[in-house]
Amino acid sequence: MSDEYLLRPMTIDDIGQVITIERLSFSMPWSPLTYFYEIQQNRSAYMAVIELPDAPPIPPIMESSRFQIFPFRRRNQKPVGRLTAYGGMWVKHGEAHISTIAAHPDYRGQRLGELMLYGLIQRGIECEADHVMLEVRISNTVAQNLYHKYGFEKTGIRPMYYHDNNEDAYVMAVPTIDADYRRKLDTYLTALQQKVFFQDHFTGQNSFKEE
Ligand SMILES: CC(C)(COP(=O)(O)OP(=O)(O)OC[C@H]1O[C@@H](n2cnc3c(N)ncnc32)[C@H](O)[C@@H]1OP(=O)(O)O)[C@@H](O)C(=O)NCCC(=O)NCCS
Repeated sequence: MSDEYLLRPMTIDDIGQVITIERLSFSMPWSPLTYFYEIQQNRSAYMAVIELPDAPPIPPIMESSRFQIFPFRRRNQKPVGRLTAYGGMWVKHGEAHISTIAAHPDYRGQRLGELMLYGLIQRGIECEADHVMLEVRISNTVAQNLYHKYGFEKTGIRPMYYHDNNEDAYVMAVPTIDADYRRKLDTYLTALQQKVFFQDHFTGQNSFKEE
């Protein structure tokens, strides 16, 4: 079985697996309908997944999630491999706003969060964003480390942003995507390519494992 990952756009056929990862990752998970809207209707949204095409799909975490995604099952559904990570972003008026990012718990620590973040920033640049921002729980130091690595700085706080426990959010941003930042992004990509064997569906960028 190949362990080559594919970074590609999310489709409605992915929603079932995305919801499984979502529920394993977030205390306030988005609904299948929200994903349906982001993929099909929100013209500012860019949604992506990282797939292991030759592996079987991840099983749903509970039977009821199968029922809830039922409306999105299509007669001619394309076979989907195993989804390991996903992310989303809204791009509007020069701002790329990362809306969500997660890796399946079994695949964390393998640079897939990083690959997804890289992919989102790259798409933001292609859509002519001049800055990137996001919100993150103040307790989520793992995600903050990832963002920091990619040049994000804390630029503000949104008090009680998360309704489940009234936790504050840090606003983190790459305030200016300039030539200097693009050069840094190239160096991040070069380092990433040494670690993960992947194909980027959009750019055709590849990485190859060192034997
Ligand atoms: C945040 C998340 C997407 C990171 O994905 P991942 O694939 O596990 O992370 P990666 O292997 O790509 O690691 C990239 C960087 O993240 C940081 N990081 C990852 N795991 C970490 C850990 N256990 N402890 C501290 N920092 C960590 C590090 O900076 C790491 O780079 P480094 O190893 O060079 O220091 C993942 O932990 C996740 O899905 N969390 C739950 C959902 C979530 O919190 N999303 C963010 C919402 S704002």
